[in-house]
Amino acid sequence: MTKTDDTAYLKALLYHYEAEILGEAYFSALADCFDDAAEREKLTLLAAVERRAADTVRPLVDKHGLVPRDETVLKAIGAELTGPHRHFSWRQFMTHITVEYPAYLDNFHALEKMAPEDDLVALQRLTHHEVVLIDFAQREIANDPDSVMPLQHYLE
Ligand SMILES: [Fe+2]
Repeated sequence: MTKTDDTAYLKALLYHYEAEILGEAYFSALADCFDDAAEREKLTLLAAVERRAADTVRPLVDKHGLVPRDETVLKAIGAELTGPHRHFSWRQFMTHITVEYPAYLDNFHALEKMAPEDDLVALQRLTHHEVVLIDFAQREIANDPDSVMPLQHYLE
């Protein structure tokens, strides 16, 4: 990598790490908006996947000497991101994931392309969490009784 590429990569790495902390808070906050116990449980699992994704890349963040914003700050931002999503039906929310999240997946692939070889294993694991979220939502829409299986596998 050139020096310029390195700067862009590190900026993107920190951004994506912080986004997972936001994501955990986002799903946790949304869990309070759904009345159905099973849906709340699924949102708790989604939050756990976000935390796991963050934990997966945290060693890279530290290795490169990056300093994320305080988690209290990030969690407040994440909870605010729920905004209009707080009024989604479960079906609307699952559709939202299948429509909007593939673009995030593209961003993760772009991050991998910028990365040094040593960082790739962790970043591929980060990318995979987005695949898992989309897979889950597609299964929910299809009324798959094993919809949480991809989430549970990711958390193993
Ligand atoms: Fe995420």
